[in-house]
Amino acid sequence: MISWDDFNADEKPTAQAPVTPTRTAPPAQDTATEAPAAVVSAAPPAAGSAPRGLEAPAAIVTEAIARVNHGARDAVEGSAHERAAQALAELDPAPGLEDLEMGAERIRVDDKRMINCRADLNQLVPFKYEWAWQKYLDGCANHWMPQEVNMSKDVSMWKSGDGQLTEDERLIVMRSLGFFSTADSLVANNLVLALYRHITNPECRQYLLRQAFEEAIHTHAYQYCIQSLGIDEGEVFNMYREVPSVARKAAWGLKYTQSLSDPTFKTGTVENDQRLLRNLIAFYCVLEGTFFYCGFTQILSMGRRNKMTGVAEQFQYILRDESMHVNFGIDVINQIKNENPQLWTKAFQQEATQMILEGTQLEVEYARDTMPRGVLGMNAAMMEEYLHYIANRRLVQLGLPEQFPGVKNPFPWMSEIMDLRKEKNFFETRVTEYQTGGALAW
Ligand SMILES: [Fe+2]
Ligand SMILES: [Fe+2]
Repeated sequence: MISWDDFNADEKPTAQAPVTPTRTAPPAQDTATEAPAAVVSAAPPAAGSAPRGLEAPAAIVTEAIARVNHGARDAVEGSAHERAAQALAELDPAPGLEDLEMGAERIRVDDKRMINCRADLNQLVPFKYEWAWQKYLDGCANHWMPQEVNMSKDVSMWKSGDGQLTEDERLIVMRSLGFFSTADSLVANNLVLALYRHITNPECRQYLLRQAFEEAIHTHAYQYCIQSLGIDEGEVFNMYREVPSVARKAAWGLKYTQSLSDPTFKTGTVENDQRLLRNLIAFYCVLEGTFFYCGFTQILSMGRRNKMTGVAEQFQYILRDESMHVNFGIDVINQIKNENPQLWTKAFQQEATQMILEGTQLEVEYARDTMPRGVLGMNAAMMEEYLHYIANRRLVQLGLPEQFPGVKNPFPWMSEIMDLRKEKNFFETRVTEYQTGGALAW
């Protein structure tokens, strides 16, 4: 295990630049006169097909924009106070509520569904999926920030020319930062731009919002490592386009984001609901559940050998978050399967299996590229066995048969690092304050 004793005691937060208030918002009048075209084009085409209470019909949006513009044009005719009072007097307290199927009835648990839900999504409770809320609470209890990790030993090791790091070890650090620095952005963008609006359950959305922030922290962590070590940012951030073993993984994931990113895409048909399921499997089971595992194992193995312990500690925090993301995603997929058994056809099961196998093969190629020889007590063949073991787990989690019978886990210590309950030292110091903060008795 990584020893935290060397750098926990003297840790101090990184000095923050003083916050200077800046004025960035343009005058209201300019904004109002530019808004209509873009907003109207983004409105849903069919009023009746929008989730209830979430998206106002195009006509309402157009009318609201006309009112805003009218107010802006008349700005010279009344005081700001008079115009504000007039706008509030005209405020419709329930725009779009005429689309609600149940009118003024309160939300019942039985109304809630993972996808294609017609109940009001602005009401968090009553919970239907307690597990989603619990994962949100667990994520909050494990909050951390990259600046809390001391990087000074890493900086001296990275910059020293006395052979503390071999060229093969340096290659692993560079490739890991190159892949992960953009991969977490791919995941975050998929969450907020493609996935979020189609998951029609408030407690799951609460977790998705938490996950989105965690992805931002992860990207922050990689940037913090890159900056601390003085690595060429252009080289690292462009690896997902320039280094084949990294680029192929990114390209594989991106096509599933593109599949949902059409603003007119809507769930509600078997074909489109299966497209959503494909996106979930691609991101939770393959990107986060397979593509992260070679790099994580390499960097954590480095930390166990007392090398680049700051980078390794950052990765350990991230791995903890990621294993929760994977578990959440698999629960969501299985819930969708239960509620919509017509989606989980034999052909779709074969497709899901193939997706896991494709992802596994891409990660095996990444392992071979990053480990041309044995390094850190492992080699590409051992990593291949580990990835087959991971693939079996993902398949079983989805209710699909294993594709690599009999493989064993060659890195059992990875499971210990991932399991929150087995970890003794982790979070005992710095994160305790977050946990007590969340559990204060007033
Ligand atoms: Fe992440
Ligand atoms: Fe993640």
